[in-house]
Amino acid sequence: MSNNVNNNAKRRYRSQDWFDNPERIDMTALYLERFMNYGITPEELRCGKPIIGIAQSGSDITPCNRIHLETVKRVRDGIRDAGGIPMEFPLHPIFENCRRPTAALDRNLAYLGLVEILHGYPIDAVVLTTGCDKTVPAQLMAAATVDIPAIVLSGGPMLDGWFEGELVGSGAAIWKARRQLAAGTIDEKKFVDIATASAPSAGHCNTMGTASTMNAVAEALGMSLTGCSAIPAPYRERGQMAYETGRRIVELAKDDVRPSQILTRDAFLDAIVVNAAIGGSSNAQPHIVAMARHAGVEITPEDWMEYGYDVPLLLNMQPAGKYLGERFHRAGGVPAVMWELEQAGKLRSQRLTVTGKTIAENIYARETDDREMIKPFAEPLKDTAGFLVLKGNLFDFAIMKTSVISPAFRARYLANPGHENCFECKVVVFDGSDDYHHRINDPSLGIDEYTMLVIRGAGPVGWPGSAEVVNMQPPDHLIKQGISNLPTLGDGRQSGTSDSPSILNASPESAAGGNLSLLRTGDVIRVDLNHGRCDVLLSDEDLEARRSDAPPMIPASQTPWQEIYRATVGQLHKGACMELALPYRGVGHDMP
Ligand code: FES
Ligand code: MG
Repeated sequence: MSNNVNNNAKRRYRSQDWFDNPERIDMTALYLERFMNYGITPEELRCGKPIIGIAQSGSDITPCNRIHLETVKRVRDGIRDAGGIPMEFPLHPIFENCRRPTAALDRNLAYLGLVEILHGYPIDAVVLTTGCDKTVPAQLMAAATVDIPAIVLSGGPMLDGWFEGELVGSGAAIWKARRQLAAGTIDEKKFVDIATASAPSAGHCNTMGTASTMNAVAEALGMSLTGCSAIPAPYRERGQMAYETGRRIVELAKDDVRPSQILTRDAFLDAIVVNAAIGGSSNAQPHIVAMARHAGVEITPEDWMEYGYDVPLLLNMQPAGKYLGERFHRAGGVPAVMWELEQAGKLRSQRLTVTGKTIAENIYARETDDREMIKPFAEPLKDTAGFLVLKGNLFDFAIMKTSVISPAFRARYLANPGHENCFECKVVVFDGSDDYHHRINDPSLGIDEYTMLVIRGAGPVGWPGSAEVVNMQPPDHLIKQGISNLPTLGDGRQSGTSDSPSILNASPESAAGGNLSLLRTGDVIRVDLNHGRCDVLLSDEDLEARRSDAPPMIPASQTPWQEIYRATVGQLHKGACMELALPYRGVGHDMP
């Protein structure tokens, strides 16, 4: 017998309850015979090798993760070579830009499905294959709930996109080209050419959109091997990383290193810091909160301000900066950004990660040699890049992604002498994105450069799932005048690739009785970024008087899951979790 087997004999794996249970030899025989069908011997299954699940997130329907159809071959090699038995199974697909009404609906569904698989099948540890936005939090939420050893393998971003000699990044290129189309400077053919040029290979979005953000967050949390998240999908290092990840999960299984030892409050606070420094997606807010809550950690609105707000922007990557994923990887990826933050004393780096080492050990001597891409902490691209948390008489919580406030936006709205960072606008209110698309170019709305566009009915209950719609484009006549962003506010989210400094994720949402439901076109809103306030200029009495009006319409549920989702989901400031799932932590250790 090899050393592995001798060592394993000391630790009884949960899978042995299925395959090596002397009290239920009838059932053991039944379980054994099926798995032998694809080449696993009864001896292997009964000698105490750990069974390593591989959650396969790639498929034709989730093209951003399709690289994992290849990477898992190397994961399997690594698992086998380290003395484990791989068992691959599918994750419910989540494809960000195609799923209607919104992919956000599927984060909690994939979470639920994965919890059931990890709990109900003979799996001792799991490799989580991630890529497209919500495939990261869905799986980490499940790993936190089940709390068996787990490791993230990112699929990596696409190669950089180029069009007419310029970098074109996923999403970001489309937001820009959409404005050019509205202004009449490009035609539809060129619009499609730009969009397709921005997606030149396998992989997830190559900008610092939600996918790159959430994979970076997974690495910052300590849930993937060092340097994993930024390796572009087609690069040779991706296959090597897959192999090493396979080897490592077997060790994590043997040592019984669980997510609960890694997903601590310190880890989530560091994720908030890293997210700011990379100019990460505004979707990181609900996802970080959701992962934390499933791990038993509370992240408060104040935490975003205290730990994240004044972190400088270090990474020069679209949409907050210039470049794309290939250069980020070559510049050193997440470890190089964390090295800067560590030197500045911004991290809690003596915490455990899946490498078996601390963050400090993982990022030792990882300083970048590309100062155009990763700036020194003392000379950042922007001084403060964290989310600004706002509240007021319309909502209790919303965020603004400050890293994307452009000089033009700042000059028009935030540079009022004597009232710096404060402005007032009359509002035009849209009920959902169909209403916005129908009416945005209606001249009778009188939208000018001092109008704030408000969208409601776009939160977790309203849409349902919460739509990425708050980055509303101004009407065509303003775009033709060169106004590319108006102030916007909404109870939905926006794409992580958008450069719009919206006030978004407003909670509670209109459809859950939030005061946004009382707002009317023509009201005036005052925004005060110095004090984190956003208020409609109406008295409490005036607002209350409107409460007897019929609430804004929201669409009916179209599927059973939409109804279940709406009945169980919490608000965005609480991570839009399935609230009833939160007490079920550690269920991988209650044998089914
Ligand atoms: Fe899937 Fe961007 S749409 S990663
Ligand atoms: Mg998105």
